[in-house]
Amino acid sequence: MLMDRFARRFTYLRLSVTENCNFRCDYCLPDGPDCTSRQAELTVPEIRRLVTAFAALGTRKVRLTGGEPCLRKDLLEIIQTVKAVPGIEEVAITTNGYRLQRDTPAWRAAGVDAINVSVDSLDPSTFHLVTGQNRLPAILDGIDQAIELGIPKVKVNSVLLKGYNGGALPDFLDYIKTRKVSLRFIELMRTNDNVAYYQRHHISGQSIKEQLLREGWQQCVKSRTAGPAQEFWHSEYQGKLGLIMPYSRDFCDDCNRLRVSSLGQLFLCLFTEHHQDLRAYLQTDDTAPLQAALQELVLSKKATHGLHEQFSGATRHLAMIGG
Ligand code: GTP
Ligand code: 5AD
Ligand code: SF4
Repeated sequence: MLMDRFARRFTYLRLSVTENCNFRCDYCLPDGPDCTSRQAELTVPEIRRLVTAFAALGTRKVRLTGGEPCLRKDLLEIIQTVKAVPGIEEVAITTNGYRLQRDTPAWRAAGVDAINVSVDSLDPSTFHLVTGQNRLPAILDGIDQAIELGIPKVKVNSVLLKGYNGGALPDFLDYIKTRKVSLRFIELMRTNDNVAYYQRHHISGQSIKEQLLREGWQQCVKSRTAGPAQEFWHSEYQGKLGLIMPYSRDFCDDCNRLRVSSLGQLFLCLFTEHHQDLRAYLQTDDTAPLQAALQELVLSKKATHGLHEQFSGATRHLAMIGG
């Protein structure tokens, strides 16, 4: 089992499969030097060994993240490989939606159980301003297809951005009126690369929470394995609304996740100074040494990310670690 000094259990692995992304969301990978990484990403056999070791220690859910996972040519093989590891019950993917329309059926056939898609605005011109992409209609269509295909969990992520979508709550509520999705507003997180941007655009989710409660939304009871969102439901809406508020004091108390980058580095937290290179362990099928190392390493996980102290750690942007 993977348990830290604070008795938190880690049953959820977020595995980044590439640092590369074809969008340029201005809070994450703003324009500037090309962010294309040329370093060697974990291969399928390395991923199989890594996930096998985590599963032997109790990991039940793997979320594939990036960068943008669909940029990996062997993504289907990665999905099938992870899904086939004994013990893995759920394979999820976080995507910008670029290939949803084309690839969701194949992802589903390969074993994907859950898809999270970023949609920072429902207005095409604002969407273009934030992401540098004109694909909003295709992405929204891809989300509808994923729901129709029967993907068990479909979530939509929207980073709260003052000046862009801060006043768009009515549009988002309209969107979930008839769609069985969980839409989550994420508070913008300060990273090393977006300090000035953060100061201009950060909004707290608290005022949205208050507005929802005033308008008859009820907070859902959170299960132990639930993610970081506080979720709300309303009898007149098919979808749910969630708030991810990493700056709230107790955010890390029920942390259930560990992260491995596309280069095979273990990050104990989204915001951390240190990471450990696991690649040397991934060269043989004997996963016992890696299991022992993971059990030891997890003991140095800190109680909290420290974002409250206005600290962003060594994390330059979330694309390098998979959010
Ligand atoms: P599920 O519960 O599996 O649906 O995942 P999720 O909501 O955590 O995943 P997703 O990849 O959609 O991430 C949504 C947002 O939550 C992103 O901005 C992540 O960076 C953020 N997030 C996820 N996990 C953590 C965490 O442990 N700490 C912090 N600070 N943010 C997180
Ligand atoms: N703050 C909050 N969310 C972010 N994401 C990327 N960078 C940040 C940030 N600095 C989001 C993306 C995606 C999810 C995986 O992380 O929009 O929905
Ligand atoms: Fe866990 Fe770190 Fe996220 Fe807090 S910020 S919930 S400790 S990964």
